[in-house]
Amino acid sequence: AITVDPTAKGAKIDDTMYGVFFEDINRAADGGLYAELVQNRSFEYSTDDNKSYTPLTSWTVDGTGQVVNDDGRLNARNRNYLSLTAGSSVTNAGYNTGISVEEGKRYDFSVWARAAAGTTLTVTLQDADGSLATARQVAVTKSGWAKYKAGFTATRTSSAGRLTVGSSAAAALDMVSLFPRDTYRNEPNGLRKDLAEKIEALHPGFVRFPGGCLVNTGSMEDYSEASGYQRKRSYQWKDTIGPVEERATNSNVWGYNQSYGLGYYEYFRLSEDIGAMPLPVVPALVTGCGQNKAVDDEALLKRHIQDTLDLIEFANGPVTSEWGKKRAQMGHPKPFHLTHIEVGNEENLPEAFFARFKQFRAAIEAKYPDITVISNSGPDDAGTTFDTAWQLNKDAKVDMVDEHYYNSTQWFLQNNDRYDSYDRNGPKVFLGEYASWGNAFKNGLAEAAYMTGLERNADVVKLASYAPLFANEDYVQWQPDLIWFNNHAAWNSANYEVQKLFMNNVGDRVVPSTATGTPSLTGPITGAVGLSTWATTAAYDDVKVTDAEGNSLLSDDFSGDASKWTHTGGGSWAIQDGQYVQTDVAAENTMVSAGDTNWHDYDLKVKATKKSGK
Ligand code: AHR
Repeated sequence: AITVDPTAKGAKIDDTMYGVFFEDINRAADGGLYAELVQNRSFEYSTDDNKSYTPLTSWTVDGTGQVVNDDGRLNARNRNYLSLTAGSSVTNAGYNTGISVEEGKRYDFSVWARAAAGTTLTVTLQDADGSLATARQVAVTKSGWAKYKAGFTATRTSSAGRLTVGSSAAAALDMVSLFPRDTYRNEPNGLRKDLAEKIEALHPGFVRFPGGCLVNTGSMEDYSEASGYQRKRSYQWKDTIGPVEERATNSNVWGYNQSYGLGYYEYFRLSEDIGAMPLPVVPALVTGCGQNKAVDDEALLKRHIQDTLDLIEFANGPVTSEWGKKRAQMGHPKPFHLTHIEVGNEENLPEAFFARFKQFRAAIEAKYPDITVISNSGPDDAGTTFDTAWQLNKDAKVDMVDEHYYNSTQWFLQNNDRYDSYDRNGPKVFLGEYASWGNAFKNGLAEAAYMTGLERNADVVKLASYAPLFANEDYVQWQPDLIWFNNHAAWNSANYEVQKLFMNNVGDRVVPSTATGTPSLTGPITGAVGLSTWATTAAYDDVKVTDAEGNSLLSDDFSGDASKWTHTGGGSWAIQDGQYVQTDVAAENTMVSAGDTNWHDYDLKVKATKKSGK
């Protein structure tokens, strides 16, 4: 029986309680939410991003054409361009099965070209069955680099289109682009409509962006001549604004290249469009996610702190300010009303992180006292790192702390009371990433049950976002994810429906209730042991799991078959020479080297409460 006291007042629930976490993972941005249909439009893909890439990835040249990096480039932040000889052409294969077009819809082509005036560029859209639109001829009118445009109306629907640009004379090409006219809210440099509408339908209270590990991995250097035009640098917001042809592309910790066509301006614009609070995450000069290194460079730290102040000015400053002016120039003179900013993501060097966090916080609070600066607690390892981080946060009276955890459905059901015992006078909680391992109905159900515990504790848990938001089904590095898609369709997970239910029905206050007769856990305890690896490849042997009394729960020396093991995410696994081995090393999930290939013994312990049974 459930007893409810309608007169009692429980915690107030903020309208912003439930939000979304957008990370550029699983090709969520390029080939996903960002509506650009051409892959590798600026010929910047590199083996530094992914071993399988070249500057011509996704392109085929008919005739003679090569990617050049010389003084004739479009600009210093866009190093490569394609040099085509007379009569040659180049064809782009888009994402997934190709470029997706819908009969009757308009598509905008553009290209930066440098060729003799009078050169003709012929642009076609076709698939294996023939033409998808009337071919267009573009006349080169200037001798230097210039942008040329053409429009197409698709005469057929196809998700296997190819875009070809041919040239009558020698030509240099860069930023070859094809955009649907029909973007979300018809915004320029816009978002894929079906995907953005799925976010909108959630009515999220906030958007956490742009990551995750995307933010706090890579070099913290900038992209400049002085630092050697760094690839694999952390996500730095200044790289992602301004004209798209001047946004220097970057390697991504998830093993691909990011064009930054979807950048900070577009994230702020999306947040505004859907009525959500923007919640950016900036790097704190401690790398995480397997890289785990504190960067000791005072000058660099100062620069990142200044960048963070500039970000606040970009979002909120008057058009007369340096960064507010840049926002206005991009088309948004009004402020974006930034109120919260997160410094760092899942750093598992708590002391090093905290030393840097405090400097960020002091600088932000001195200039912008109304901004809430969110700290974090590292990955929830239920152990010393997490506890140390929390203690540091408490001691420094931090306003809000980000927590992350991915766990089994059973864990979510058993930990509904997690926040009941949190200090009511300590930092508030931003649950920035959480999910049970899976997208099945039972996962959604376990998360829904858990969310009642978040809501009951809405005085402590102020913000919560399931993670991550998107996965392109052909480029998956991380599961579970909320929304799945390919180049022409998108579908919701069960978890999405749960999030939507909660986000569309945020209450004002908790009504305290008590329950009796709730079932207790009885019977045999079943479970699973997960071996997980990411950011490197792995081999396992002699896995043994025992309970606290030493009874064997699981033992596998991999001398038989691997049928009791399943895997999710990228990577294939197989038994080889009596070991369980990840076999596809070159896949997109090979991101960072662990630097240690020795065998180690891990002490696996399973903690369970045994009520009855074995
Ligand atoms: O959500 C995927 C990853 O999980 C995020 O990048 C990171 O913050 C967490 O470890």
